[in-house]
Amino acid sequence: MRKILKLAALVVLVCGTIFAYACGGEGKQARIKGNSSYEASLFRQNCVICHGPEGEGRMMNGQQVPSLRKGEPATRAEEEIYKQIAFGKLPMPPFRDQLTESEMRRLATFIKEELQGRTD
Ligand code: HEC
Repeated sequence: MRKILKLAALVVLVCGTIFAYACGGEGKQARIKGNSSYEASLFRQNCVICHGPEGEGRMMNGQQVPSLRKGEPATRAEEEIYKQIAFGKLPMPPFRDQLTESEMRRLATFIKEELQGRTD
């Protein structure tokens, strides 16, 4: 009986560890709604109109605007995200004349770390 209990405890411990490893840490994505950070406010003012209220993407004039939270956009280097914001890529307009260098950098970091939950 003792042995079985010990075994059961071990199974729970091992499974718990694997579960925590698989599900913990990564993938903690921040919300934009109700987010009082400066970056979230920049995002609300400049980006939600096309990328949706939570940056999840949306259909616009029959075209899919990509989600910034998952898929390929969530594999880009921060520098690439910055370049997309600064220089745009049709049909997305460039923001280098509307936002400061620091605002664009902060948005790129915000997208990677907060919306995509990446720390790489
Ligand atoms: C007028 C609509 C519009 C606005 C406003 C807009 N975007 Fe976009 N964005 C798009 C479209 C459409 C694409 C996809 C472009 C393509 O096909 O490559 C895109 C792509 C992107 C990508 C690249 C996704 C990838 O494939 O890696 C990023 C990053 C991005 N937008 C961030 C932003 C940020 C940050 C803002 C606000 C400062 C913003 N966008 C404002 C329409 C918009």
